[in-house]
Amino acid sequence: MTSKTAVTAAPIAPVLAERWSPRSFDHNYELTQHELLSILEAARWAASGNNFQPWRFGVAVRGSKEHATVAARLSGFNAAWAPHASALIVASVLTHAPDGTAYGSGQFDLGLAVSSLMIQAHELGLHAHVVGGFDRDALKVDLGLEEALVIPVLVVVGRVAPAEQLEGPAREREIAPRVRHDLDDILLFGKP
Ligand SMILES: Cc1cc2nc3c(=O)[nH]c(=O)nc-3n(C[C@H](O)[C@H](O)[C@H](O)COP(=O)(O)O)c2cc1C
Repeated sequence: MTSKTAVTAAPIAPVLAERWSPRSFDHNYELTQHELLSILEAARWAASGNNFQPWRFGVAVRGSKEHATVAARLSGFNAAWAPHASALIVASVLTHAPDGTAYGSGQFDLGLAVSSLMIQAHELGLHAHVVGGFDRDALKVDLGLEEALVIPVLVVVGRVAPAEQLEGPAREREIAPRVRHDLDDILLFGKP
């Protein structure tokens, strides 16, 4: 398989270089309780504005009623691969602080928590893949979530499987090297 390890201008932590987002997941692997607790703990300890911790997670393991509910709301291509992974994690966030004021940095905070979750998954030999392609409004209703919550993303978690399990363009994408803009292209000023 083509290496998925990031080509970096300077060394970075191995877990950051090696993390990637597969679409070919082991159809049979079940997450252990330890693995689930560990990735959720990683999310729990993320930084957030005022330490408000506005993230709320729902874990739908493959085969559960909740999993069927979440999987039914995945859009097109995502519906073909994501349900095979071990779990679909609903990553939702409160839009308002307890005093009723709009909470501006909630999605940013959730992003930090999801990033920690993904890195911890990789540390455990698992893989995580963020998915934004789903009907978030319908899913919120289906799950009966409180009004103050929105669901920006789902996080697909499981054990990676050979790319050959996928077909066509999906397989090509699975084995393609990971690419990024050059540092020069994203650096506004202060070039090292
Ligand atoms: C907010 C967000 C939404 C995404 N939505 C999808 C999606 O709907 N389907 C999908 O296959 N990948 C999705 N991705 C995964 C990205 O395509 C992937 O992270 C990106 O191509 C970089 O690849 P890497 O994570 O392997 O480095 C999403 C990622 C993010 C952060």
